[in-house]
Amino acid sequence: MLSAQERAHIAQVWDLIAGHEALFGAELLRRLFTVYPSTKVYFRHLGDHPDEVQLLNHGQRVLQAVGVAVQYMDNLRAVLSPLADLHAQVLRVDPSNFPLVIQCFQVVLASHLQGEFTVEMQAAWDKFLTGIAVVLTEKYR
Ligand code: HEM
Repeated sequence: MLSAQERAHIAQVWDLIAGHEALFGAELLRRLFTVYPSTKVYFRHLGDHPDEVQLLNHGQRVLQAVGVAVQYMDNLRAVLSPLADLHAQVLRVDPSNFPLVIQCFQVVLASHLQGEFTVEMQAAWDKFLTGIAVVLTEKYR
């Protein structure tokens, strides 16, 4: 459960991302694939070195989904259900990959927002992204 303060931190950071989903998303993927190359096995269809257009396209889709989650913070399970089916049943992404995405997401935020990204904001985003990951990984059975 997110507190009122945590919700405010999440919304405040999202206001800075909104409109730049593709750019933030592409950087998230670039960091993910570079820092944790094992994650690339799920993206073989993008080739060995995904180009900028592919990163922007997929990055935008991922960040737009996070934006929807921000909008429906109290209803994550319902709103993310189709994505949960996709990741568990179709893509079969190993759940151990989710913390890697969460970490890279926070580094993207820190590197862009710098001093604006307070300790409290990081804590709120960590909790929120973990909540998303819980929903996206609970259909593995
Ligand atoms: C596809 C979101 C984590 C691998 C997608 C799509 C979205 C998304 C919105 C597109 C769905 C569609 O086309 O209908 C997210 C979010 C995540 C997450 C919000 C975590 C916060 C992961 C992780 C991996 C992964 C950890 C693997 C390392 C993929 C792959 C696709 C995909 C392979 C299909 C790509 C394609 O169609 O080209 N994800 N995802 N995702 N995701 Fe995720």
